Amino acid sequence: MRMNGSHQLRRKQFYKNLSVGEALILFAGSASRKTADACYPFFTNRNFYYLTGIIQVNSIFMAFNRDGKVEETLFIHPKDTMAERWNGYRISHEEATANSGVEQIMDLEQFDEALSEILKSGSVSALWYDFDKYDEGRKDALQNRHSESISSNHPSLTLKNAYPVICEARTIKDAGEIAEIRNALSVTRDGIHAMMKAVKPGMYEYQLEGVFNKVLADAGVREPAFANIVSGGRNNFYIHYEEPMGILNDGEMILTDVGARKNQYVSDISRPFPVNGKFTPEQKEVYSIALKVNKELMELLVPGKISFPEIEANSRRRVGELLVDAGYLGKDEDVSKYYWHKGTHHIGLDVHDVGPPGQPIAPGMVFTIDVGIYMEDKNIGFRIEDNVVITETGYEHLSADIVREIDDVEAMMRG
Ligand code: GLY
Ligand code: MN
Repeated sequence: MRMNGSHQLRRKQFYKNLSVGEALILFAGSASRKTADACYPFFTNRNFYYLTGIIQVNSIFMAFNRDGKVEETLFIHPKDTMAERWNGYRISHEEATANSGVEQIMDLEQFDEALSEILKSGSVSALWYDFDKYDEGRKDALQNRHSESISSNHPSLTLKNAYPVICEARTIKDAGEIAEIRNALSVTRDGIHAMMKAVKPGMYEYQLEGVFNKVLADAGVREPAFANIVSGGRNNFYIHYEEPMGILNDGEMILTDVGARKNQYVSDISRPFPVNGKFTPEQKEVYSIALKVNKELMELLVPGKISFPEIEANSRRRVGELLVDAGYLGKDEDVSKYYWHKGTHHIGLDVHDVGPPGQPIAPGMVFTIDVGIYMEDKNIGFRIEDNVVITETGYEHLSADIVREIDDVEAMMRG
């Protein structure tokens, strides 16, 4: 589903910041070189996509507030039969307008001239760029390179940062975005349930990962939201495990931390389960603690009343208390031995989506609740991770239909 109305609306919101004489320049980005003449697949810059809805390599968007009226132009590669024969389809000007709502589409080669024209007119006082925090100090990042070269020729221009403004907007999801996350979650649910049904002791981790990928493909999803994590036994202690070459052994736990991406929007779910379909009493006990804390954290989700750091603090404290009660720890303060990571992050166009971490939660935020316990000395380690959306009065548990009660998991695994 294309949401050009939404992209247009988002631009309009942004323009509240764009004073007369100011221009915004956004880059879709290019494909990074992998080796020789091969590149990694192109992945559209998230803020560029958020404001334009355009997915095409090297595209540039410019908006200029000339005199109170914002002029928008999208610069894209021109149609070219020979280039397309090798590198694939290029969208036409009409398609670019339909997808973005931008009326003026120009060929990419015209960008420099169009920018020079407004700069020469002397009516530009400031340029806004998307200075992504992850690109800070990177000379090769497009926005850094471009802004530096423009500034050196036009030293009186002010540079302004669009990144925090766009990121703040992205933190609150609209109905269309939440619908896409729901779609992604329903594919993820089917993929996780299929893995629960398919697993057998002696399988390789990548074979089980293949079961997940097949469900995604059958649902029209070519690419997961992030590198699948499918690990067994001691491999569960590598939090971001991306080389699933191990064997799934009888008596051990599997950890699946996976998510489909649907129309750019992600899901992010962790479900652990026993390789042989039946939890041992000890696995059951540790799993029950993680699940109990996960549920307790959700009950704290009241808009305006709690922030991510407070959710994290509760998670850590409760895991510590319950591990002490169960006799796994001597005192709560030792919880770091088994509690390794935070578990609350926004999801959206990115899996670790943008959003100021310290502010109170608010309606329209979509994020993870993730409780992990890692006991290397007992070879039991996993996390239970769910996705929620904050409503006007509380929350909705978006991944409630992905089984997680012990009896339900065992029943699913029996098929
Ligand atoms: N699910 C992977 C992560 O949040 O890091
Ligand atoms: Mn996560």
